[in-house]
Amino acid sequence: MCTAVPYASRAGGRFDPIGYWPYRRTMISRILKHIIQKIIISTDPDGPQSEMNLAVVEDTDFQGLSPDGRTPGERAEEVLSSMNLDEKLSFVTGYKSLALRALPRQRLPSVWMSDASSGPRCFGATTAFPSPVAMAASWNPELTAQAADHIAEAARAKGVSILLGPGVNIARIPSCGRNFEYFGEDPFLAGTLAAAYVKACTRRGVICTVKHLAVNNSEYDRHKISSNLDERTLREIYLPAFEMAVKEGKTRGIMSSYNPVNGVWASENRKLLTQILRDEWGFDGIVVSDWNSLYSTASPMKAGMDIEMPAAKWLTPVRVKAAFVKGEAGEDDLDRMAGNLLRTLFAAGIYDRPVKNPEAREFHPDHENAALKAAREGIVLLKNEGGTLPLPRGEGITIAVCGPLALESSTLGGGSCHIAGDTGTVSLYQGLKAAVSGDSLDGDAAKIIYVQSLNNPGSRKTIRDADAVVIACGFNYQTESELYDRPWRLPPSQRRLIRRVSRLNSRCAVILTAGGGVETESWIDDVPALLHGMYLGQAVGTASAELLFGIENPSGKLPFTMARKWNDIPSVRNYPRRYWTTTAGRLALGQGNPRLRKMRHWDYSEGLMVGYRHFDTAGVEPAFPFGFGLSYTSFIIEDLQLSAETIGPEDSLEVVVKVKNTGNKAGSEVVQIYVADTESRLPRPAKELKGFSKVHLEPGEAAETAIRLNPRAFSYWDPDADDWVAEPGEFRILAGRSSRNIDSEAVVILSRPGE
Ligand code: BGC
Repeated sequence: MCTAVPYASRAGGRFDPIGYWPYRRTMISRILKHIIQKIIISTDPDGPQSEMNLAVVEDTDFQGLSPDGRTPGERAEEVLSSMNLDEKLSFVTGYKSLALRALPRQRLPSVWMSDASSGPRCFGATTAFPSPVAMAASWNPELTAQAADHIAEAARAKGVSILLGPGVNIARIPSCGRNFEYFGEDPFLAGTLAAAYVKACTRRGVICTVKHLAVNNSEYDRHKISSNLDERTLREIYLPAFEMAVKEGKTRGIMSSYNPVNGVWASENRKLLTQILRDEWGFDGIVVSDWNSLYSTASPMKAGMDIEMPAAKWLTPVRVKAAFVKGEAGEDDLDRMAGNLLRTLFAAGIYDRPVKNPEAREFHPDHENAALKAAREGIVLLKNEGGTLPLPRGEGITIAVCGPLALESSTLGGGSCHIAGDTGTVSLYQGLKAAVSGDSLDGDAAKIIYVQSLNNPGSRKTIRDADAVVIACGFNYQTESELYDRPWRLPPSQRRLIRRVSRLNSRCAVILTAGGGVETESWIDDVPALLHGMYLGQAVGTASAELLFGIENPSGKLPFTMARKWNDIPSVRNYPRRYWTTTAGRLALGQGNPRLRKMRHWDYSEGLMVGYRHFDTAGVEPAFPFGFGLSYTSFIIEDLQLSAETIGPEDSLEVVVKVKNTGNKAGSEVVQIYVADTESRLPRPAKELKGFSKVHLEPGEAAETAIRLNPRAFSYWDPDADDWVAEPGEFRILAGRSSRNIDSEAVVILSRPGE
């Protein structure tokens, strides 16, 4: 059974350990949320199983051909032609909330699904990998693929064949409750990591459902707020990550989103689900509805939906048959849906193997090590003045640790990406203790003291006398979650704590847990060191301690921009003023029923100017720029060379740069390649990320790294041509360490076709 929602018990029965007062007022909503979550995930207590296991085939690299050489399409056709109307009707709606129904007459077993991106959270415990935003902060597709490989292996061990992730929605506003489940604000970064993730899962025979198509960038009233945007913004910002997951990652699944897009619910949006997805991008897999995201019967069937989850609500046999009678939909629609499901399941080899792979490892130290590796690279060092970090160590040293997340470290945000039963969370306090008592410090020791509050003279003295203090702040699975958005500012109690600690001891470091940007302007000058820890999964404490003590060198880079002021972010222009509050009505009423509440409209009036695209084009100083992250060593990036001075519209360009580690500690740097169009018919952002590469170097070592830019790197979506257009002319190719820190550049000329 999916043990996903002991939210309250994890917090020891307290609902608001973080202490943000608006949350206290939303207790009813939170309880309601637990109930909703329980309902959507309650499944067969025995989990995935079937008595109809067929032949066993190898668990990797399915070619999609049956042993007798028939294609998945031919096999699907054959099964489809044997199905009667009732079988087809029941096949296109969910079973036990997380499965596709078995077809007993055809001897095809049920097929099981599970959330998702940080590990298969349903059907018992699992290793909690870092959140997708932490994976994005690593800027390391190989590491992401490694994590995905282990996640998929655990899924296969549990009998899960469809993973309900990863999510690739763009972090448009820092407060979106689900930013932690996504890969940051840049479509190229998100698409690259999603493609790597999907490929790794597909190799294990697990179908990914890349979600949520599309423009689902806030949890505030997600069923009822239409994301309204122009075609160019849709194509350049909100769709490319999906497009890359389809074209490069070859994903076999897509999940639609809750929200309407330009007034048409995503689940009934034929333009998104069929015209763009299948006709333009060549997607050949299944479209799964988000849970309770259908709002009518015929429209989703016509639009390109393949299965209603978690159960039949709008696609009940009675309703579908009534739609047939009225001529609103026909059996050909149903055949297409069932056919897509069957063909994709055959192609992935799911019907040719046991439900559970007995050889796959559900838990293994390899998984835990991979989770730790990914967590280390997901941490971003944002500030480090006066040698505050690494923390001092040695006989007689005392490190004080305080803050709401020191003992109860947050592993992941809340909702369907949250893993309640992991295989062993290490808190920050435990991680620090282990780091000083282990061999890793060559016998060095330090005393780690947890300080719960500053309310008595003794604890204040401990802080004052310590050699350094670590303050663990941020959000957790209750305060940052699916279903509602979170405040941009840290809770007042946490800001107060930072101020008071910094006055008592100037050698202090804040480590943040959040899925995106938070306000730092009001307290950043008080602290000499700051790390953004994202959500690091179960290895949170170990990874954080290793970086704090300098056992590992930070190499993460922000996958989003951190603003100084809320109003510097143009995307918040039409955002509700009290966006962080939730009410029972907003959460529950009208879910999946358009008649209960009206649709509201939210204009994406900033257009392309999301994140650094805005800050860099408008020249607004951010608190910390996109792509930024410090190290305990230093690097230079130089000698940018291009494979050609002039290229044609269909050509790729190779960019080669030299990176040198100029410090005295081994470390990794991310070379970021931005493209800037010097002159263009339509306005374009000042620069856009189009390539990157992470390079590991020993002290004093230098290496060259090559990054290929494909023709799309120079193009924009031209609404007149209704297509991508690369305008001839001059482009600047910029290599840097953040969007604001460009070290080397060169110019390439894009010639006219035939020139
Ligand atoms: C979420 C999906 C998730 C599904 C199943 C929904 O509430 O939006 O992302 O996969 O639940 O848990």
